[in-house]
Amino acid sequence: MRGYDIDDACIEKARSGRYTPPEALQPDLSGKPTMTAEFADATFDIEDGCYVVKSDLRRRVVFAPADALDPGLKDQIGTSDIVYAQNLLLHLRPRAAKAAFRNICRLLNPKAALFVAGVDLPLLQAQTRKRGSSRWTTG
Ligand SMILES: C[S@@+](CC[C@H](N)C(=O)[O-])C[C@H]1O[C@@H](n2cnc3c(N)ncnc32)[C@H](O)[C@@H]1O
Repeated sequence: MRGYDIDDACIEKARSGRYTPPEALQPDLSGKPTMTAEFADATFDIEDGCYVVKSDLRRRVVFAPADALDPGLKDQIGTSDIVYAQNLLLHLRPRAAKAAFRNICRLLNPKAALFVAGVDLPLLQAQTRKRGSSRWTTG
């Protein structure tokens, strides 16, 4: 599993795998908890009062900086069967969001699944239909 962000500090934080309770328990934008107690137990050990990602999970994940708008993104990170673009596009202006969406679609292998959270729904619908996606769903 590989994780990317444009922000070096964000990548360093992800690599550390260590979160204070306010960081780990931060609610989502609507105020709802972002993880269940079951997920927290399966994902973190508590060390010195911090949430630390379990070592067997950390072994399987690498993090690196990448820019969703970089035309060289595909050459940099390759393609995958499953791609998540979570809460990224909503930070971009509509034109940039479309360009980033197109760039992210280039990372998909044939029949791959793309999970997108945090994007303007009409943009998602138009861009997905344009690409002739076999199925798309919201939820
Ligand atoms: C709201 S945070 C979401 C973080 C995480 N994906 C999540 O869902 O919890 C948005 C992230 O998008 C990153 N970002 C903004 N523009 C980007 C770009 N062009 N390429 C890659 N990441 C970008 C920001 O640095 C920030 O960490």
